[in-house]
Amino acid sequence: MSRNKNVTPTSKENKLQPNDLIVTKTDLKGHITYANDKFLTISVLEEKHCLGQPHSIIRHPDMPKAVYRLLWDTLKKGNEFFGVVKNMSMDGSFYWVFANITPSYDDKNKVIGFFSVRRHASQNLINIMSNLYQKMLQAEKRQSDDKRAIEASTKILNDFINEQGVSYNEYLISFA
Ligand SMILES: Cc1cc2nc3c(=O)[nH]c(=O)nc-3n(C[C@H](O)[C@H](O)[C@H](O)COP(=O)(O)O)c2cc1C
Repeated sequence: MSRNKNVTPTSKENKLQPNDLIVTKTDLKGHITYANDKFLTISVLEEKHCLGQPHSIIRHPDMPKAVYRLLWDTLKKGNEFFGVVKNMSMDGSFYWVFANITPSYDDKNKVIGFFSVRRHASQNLINIMSNLYQKMLQAEKRQSDDKRAIEASTKILNDFINEQGVSYNEYLISFA
C-alpha cells in the first residue's frame, strides 16, 4: 500500500475543532483535484504540491488496508462512505477525522469523481476505532499477502460491527 515514505510518523497530534471542515475532491482514481485551506494547513501541504497527487500522500501507516478496501468498494457501488481515519501530515504529525465520502455525478448521472468532507471525531469514537484498527493492523501483518491480510482484517471489522447489532454506517453515524 502506498504512502509518503519520505515522512516519518511522530506522536504529535493535531486535534480538530468541532467546527473545522476538511474538504477535498478527487478524480475517479483518487487523485486530488481540490483541497480547501484547512486540508492544506493541517496536512502541511502547499496546494501546488497537493493537486494531482494520490490521496494516499496523507495515508498513516497505523491505518489498516481493509479500511481503504471498504472505502473503495463502497464508492464503486455508488454508495457513500463513512469512516474514522488517522491521517499523517507532511511533518509526520497526525490527525483523526470522521470522514464522509460521496461520488460526484455529471448531468448524465455518470460518476466523475469523489468528494470528501471530514470533521472532528469524538475522543470516545477515536479510542474505539484506534483500538480496533490496532487489532486489524496486527492481523494484516501476520499475513503473507495483501489478499489474505485484507480478508483477516475485514473479518475483525465485521465481527466488531456484528457485535454492535447495527450496520457499519449506522454504528458510525450514531457517534456523529
Ligand atoms: C475523496 C477521497 C478522499 C480520500 N481521503 C483519504 C484520506 O483522507 N486519507 C487517506 O489515507 N486516504 C484517503 N482516501 C483513500 C486513498 O485514495 C487511498 O486509497 C488510501 O490512502 C490507501 O492508499 P492505497 O490505496 O494506495 O493503499 C481518499 C479517497 C477518496 C476517493
